[in-house]
Amino acid sequence: TKEAIEKEKKQAAEYAAAQVPNHIVLGLGSGSTAAYFVKAINERIKKEGLDIQCVATSVGTEKLAESLGMPMLDVNTIDRVDLTVDGADAVDDKLNGIKGGGAALLFEKLVATMSDKNIWIVDSTKYHKTLAGQKLPVEVIPFGGMGVFRYLNEAGYKPEFRFRDDGDILQTDSGNYLIDITIPDDADLAKLAHNLKNYTGVVEHGLFLNICDQLIIGGDKVRVIDRP
Ligand code: A5P
Repeated sequence: TKEAIEKEKKQAAEYAAAQVPNHIVLGLGSGSTAAYFVKAINERIKKEGLDIQCVATSVGTEKLAESLGMPMLDVNTIDRVDLTVDGADAVDDKLNGIKGGGAALLFEKLVATMSDKNIWIVDSTKYHKTLAGQKLPVEVIPFGGMGVFRYLNEAGYKPEFRFRDDGDILQTDSGNYLIDITIPDDADLAKLAHNLKNYTGVVEHGLFLNICDQLIIGGDKVRVIDRP
């Protein structure tokens, strides 16, 4: 049920927040699970007087953190992050995953790449044997986006532009468009990531390979899985 899933998101988020060490630069992920984490770590910072500086992975998270009065750093003033805690849309048993359901994949991947350690927090419905059949967002610049769409269509990826609820085309925090594709059953993920990244007009995609170091899955008994 919806309530059971929300509970698991919260359990994973609170478990992660309890592990965060003091005196670090902390990346704050985006999405509903990450929002539970932001609130939980904010409480610890305030209660325990922790010396933690935060950096956001989206405009939405920046706003949430600012509304809570959290100590924020401008990402352009730092060149590394100690730890980032973020959500994900789907994760496989090698801890490769897909992000971008909330359209924040580009900033999320930038901050993840700057981070010494990345922890993902998810509910149990997001953990899969493989990523085959899952939707994967591809971020494209608006100029010539139809050309990228045609390439993805001819390659058999079943592309769909992402729209907002009001029917307008969705624009990311960077003003780009998203095209959601479907990962084929026989996909070689590394090859797919490479091909997407190399196509002119593609800015980024939501495949996060070898980035997640630890996965925390909510439940009455929280599961912690380290990258093999
Ligand atoms: C944002 O672009 C995403 O990568 C989110 O981290 C992901 O969609 C998970 O979101 P929820 O925690 O809301 O499911």
